[in-house]
Amino acid sequence: MTLDSVGVRYPNGVVGLAPASLSLFADQITVLLGPSGAGKSTLLRALNHLVRPTEGGIAVSGIGPLEARGALRRHRRQTAMIFQQHQLIARLTALQNVLIGRLAHYPAWRTLFPFPERDRRLALDCLARVGLLDRALSRCDMLSGGQQQRVGIARALAQQPRLVLADEPVASLDPATSRRVLKLLRSICKADGIPAIISLHQLELAREFADRIIGLADGAIVFDGVPSELAAADLERIYGEPTGPAHQDEAETEVLTPKPLETLVEEMEAR
Ligand SMILES: Nc1ncnc2c1ncn2[C@@H]1O[C@H](COP(=O)(O)OP(=O)(O)OP(=O)(O)O)[C@@H](O)[C@H]1O
Ligand SMILES: [Mg+2]
Repeated sequence: MTLDSVGVRYPNGVVGLAPASLSLFADQITVLLGPSGAGKSTLLRALNHLVRPTEGGIAVSGIGPLEARGALRRHRRQTAMIFQQHQLIARLTALQNVLIGRLAHYPAWRTLFPFPERDRRLALDCLARVGLLDRALSRCDMLSGGQQQRVGIARALAQQPRLVLADEPVASLDPATSRRVLKLLRSICKADGIPAIISLHQLELAREFADRIIGLADGAIVFDGVPSELAAADLERIYGEPTGPAHQDEAETEVLTPKPLETLVEEMEAR
């Protein structure tokens, strides 16, 4: 994926991302590192136009420029997202939540029918890979935070993505659980050859799990390299500067799945 001078200016005039040009490579775990308000979510969401860039363009290998007709839809279908609050539906089971990952592959009318057997098998297989086969039929609100995030990973896998985008996937977990979840995510992405772009604000986790770190401060890329190259001066550039206006919590509560969750629930219940 190649970004050519991609910038985001929000309607209120705030620059979420100053024009950035970079290439993201297959088979790499890239971590977007920076303090609150640095622009991590903006950059991550720009990658599949959940936030539309106000300048520049993105091209995806095998698809081409995202502006081309049909390109964004194809790109989104092959891109799985993992969220901080995992966006699971509490009253559905782990298995049902994972099956939702399959919906991306079907046209809207198809979702009126039950999931084919092969989708159910795939969903169970994905739960097994995150160590939760025995909880497949548990309601998600009966699972711990770490388990819920593993269901979120299983749902992403069920989409059989060519790219994983994860926005602060461990922000609401304790340090030991965070490490376990990231380790799992990394090992699965490596095993399947799926590149992942993960935003994190914790330096230690970034160092441990990234192949490449992109450091952000005030909406600008201030570091781009392997973890071992990250020096004190870079950290000062990332963390040392004031991060601008207090960041807005509303941005976090937006529902970012392509379809509203309530629609998905209705579809689920119609089965
Ligand atoms: N919808 C929006 N409208 C206006 N400004 C926004 C919007 N979303 C984010 N911003 C601003 O853009 C800048 C970058 O925000 P962004 O959410 O990308 O940061 P972040 O690095 O993800 O922060 P955090 O770690 O808190 O999630 C901030 O100044 C923020 O206030
Ligand atoms: Mg964010």
